[in-house]
Amino acid sequence: MAITIPILSAGAAPARAPVVLPAGATLTSLPPLSVYVHVPWCVRKCPYCDFNSHATAGGEEIPERAYLDALRADLEQAIPSIWGRQVVSVFIGGGTPSLLSPEGLDELLAMLRACLNVLPDAEITMEANPGTAEAGRFKAYAASGVSRVSLGIQSFDDAQLKKLGRIHDAAQARAAIEMAQAAFGRVNLDMMFALPGQDLAACEADLRQALSFGTEHLSLYHLTLEPNTVFAKYPPEVPDDDTSAAMQDLVEDTLAQAGLARYEVSAYARPGARCRHNVNYWEFGDYLGLGPGAHGKLSFHDRIVREARMKNPESWMERVARRDGSHIAETRLVGPDALPFEYMLNVLRLKEGVAASAFEERTGMSLATIAHQLEAATRRDLLDADPTRLKASALGWRFLNDLQEIFL
Ligand SMILES: C[S@@+](CC[C@H](N)C(=O)[O-])C[C@H]1O[C@@H](n2cnc3c(N)ncnc32)[C@H](O)[C@@H]1O
Ligand code: SF4
Repeated sequence: MAITIPILSAGAAPARAPVVLPAGATLTSLPPLSVYVHVPWCVRKCPYCDFNSHATAGGEEIPERAYLDALRADLEQAIPSIWGRQVVSVFIGGGTPSLLSPEGLDELLAMLRACLNVLPDAEITMEANPGTAEAGRFKAYAASGVSRVSLGIQSFDDAQLKKLGRIHDAAQARAAIEMAQAAFGRVNLDMMFALPGQDLAACEADLRQALSFGTEHLSLYHLTLEPNTVFAKYPPEVPDDDTSAAMQDLVEDTLAQAGLARYEVSAYARPGARCRHNVNYWEFGDYLGLGPGAHGKLSFHDRIVREARMKNPESWMERVARRDGSHIAETRLVGPDALPFEYMLNVLRLKEGVAASAFEERTGMSLATIAHQLEAATRRDLLDADPTRLKASALGWRFLNDLQEIFL
């Protein structure tokens, strides 16, 4: 579902931003701030993936020096918009951040610490592809301060990994998990289900293998055929809706029995092991996005702004060096007509929802402004009847899109 919200400025931040929260409304406190850093390169592009990731030309090394210089320029230009704020989490995502050399990653984190107030106990996550895993590299990343790693495993079935165009096999995936567990305190495994030709037994076999490593966190994504991917052009045969719904139930039940509770649409964790960075997104917290294609959401006392950087790595590197704001492709003020929907779109992804009082705290708007929608959602039994929480009911959780659309 596409939502069109007017872009007030393209190419640069507005010189003097208009006040866009409702008349008289202000944010009395700013939400926690996270930082997302995008590394846009992969060894090879997977046929299902629509992330801003680009295969390194002919297997060449990534342009690490130019990337880090551009990242510094991006960061320096962003400082005024987050001046004085504490950073609660950092997420280095991709693409494949594990293509960065240990020295490059160390420089990246040192740069963030030098320019921003990164809290000493901030969660620092990095994504890694098993095809680029090395024990020494992982140890060096950890020594630089990475506290959590998220490994793109997808499946433990060699034939499936081939169909998915992955650069690693199941043995390499297993070895990468062991290396990650030896180096980092916290490990997440990214897995997908409803894969081409997959049946329930194969899905369960993948889950059992993932659980056998005893990790604290699993992300289980339903494979989607995204526009402009190889899979969209040459669609593989994927399980029908009934089978994939049964797989979703199987995932939730199997992981719950193993002590990993579903806390978000695709996220499962042991107690205390939730991804703090992602939870901040879902609670409508703030995040600064650095690097090509990175998105950000920043609150000020009188306005909330979303921005997106230029997607193409070369264009971003070239523009950011000009230091004229032209590396920002889009800046959008989130006004009172869009805020309730954007807020609900995020918080309703959390299985436990949020306290109703958080709505006003994060949007600057009174809950009374969405009283009609809340009432309609409760009447249709999509929203939990507890007035102190904003939380999907069991039915609303099954039909989350219908519930979210009520706030559009
Ligand atoms: C940006 S990728 C990061 C991991 C790393 N690049 C890798 O693949 O090894 C994040 C995760 O999104 C999931 N993902 C990517 N495309 C998807 C799709 N079309 N449908 C479902 N999940 C997808 C995959 O599980 C992937 O690990
Ligand atoms: S390795 Fe990850 S980011 Fe890169 S193309 Fe594959 S799924 Fe996308």
